[in-house]
Amino acid sequence: MDCALEASGLTKKFKDLAAVSQFNLQVPRGEIFGLVGPDGAGKTTTLRMLSTAMEQTAGEIRVLGLHSLKEAEKIRDRIGYMPQRFSLYGDLTVEENLDFFADLYQVPGAVRAKKKAELLAFTNLAPFTKRRGAQLSGGMQKKLALACNLIHTPELLFLDEPTTGVDPISRREFWRILNGLTGVTILVTTPYMDEAERCHRVGLIREGKLLVCDTPAEVKRQAGAATLEEAFIRIVEGSGVAGGR
Ligand SMILES: Nc1ncnc2c1ncn2[C@@H]1O[C@H](COP(=O)(O)OP(=O)(O)O)[C@@H](O)[C@H]1O
Ligand SMILES: [Mg+2]
Repeated sequence: MDCALEASGLTKKFKDLAAVSQFNLQVPRGEIFGLVGPDGAGKTTTLRMLSTAMEQTAGEIRVLGLHSLKEAEKIRDRIGYMPQRFSLYGDLTVEENLDFFADLYQVPGAVRAKKKAELLAFTNLAPFTKRRGAQLSGGMQKKLALACNLIHTPELLFLDEPTTGVDPISRREFWRILNGLTGVTILVTTPYMDEAERCHRVGLIREGKLLVCDTPAEVKRQAGAATLEEAFIRIVEGSGVAGGR
């Protein structure tokens, strides 16, 4: 399998708390993988380690075939990472925000205009290039944030709860955009079950442990549940992991 991402025995401890323990994952190129779990489950910590933003306590990670600790710089050039609290520059316009990220990622002038036009069209933000970030609706801000993280054509994109707090129509549009991206591997976290259904595979994480990892259809089938939500509840109840933190 041609893997974009491989993690084995991934563990993160904050003093006595094992925020992530013995996490194993393989994500093939081109897949949209959804990491689902309640608040405090360890989603952000996992994403931060996988995207080289934070070092693990134990375990090994390979990103695009590269070693996460020894080759972190090389990895960062080829991935995008949209943190949970990603903030745009509110006093910069849509276009200026895109330019800012193009500068940051050193996108060459020759491809910059084309890439910007493509992303603006793709996200339906083309009519709003002169609008300031602060004046965009929540859904438009998320789309702009996504565009900013795609400006350097990453091979692998990490999105941490990119649609949390956004209205259902905008969430659907955001996912239409994600599902329309080709050639990008995506690892996304979400608290929304309808979004989990749109992923090729989903992992359920709770108390730092990956309880299940499969296609939405297979997760439902194995749990004998009609919906992913019901499947996850059954899995959690059967897992013996105590609730709450
Ligand atoms: N920097 C930190 N220091 C100490 N504890 C942390 C830190 N970051 C996260 N945690 C704890 O690790 C656990 C997992 O957090 P997090 O990865 O943010 O979960 P999620 O993104 O699923 O809500 C939580 O109990 C959280 O309080
Ligand atoms: Mg989080």
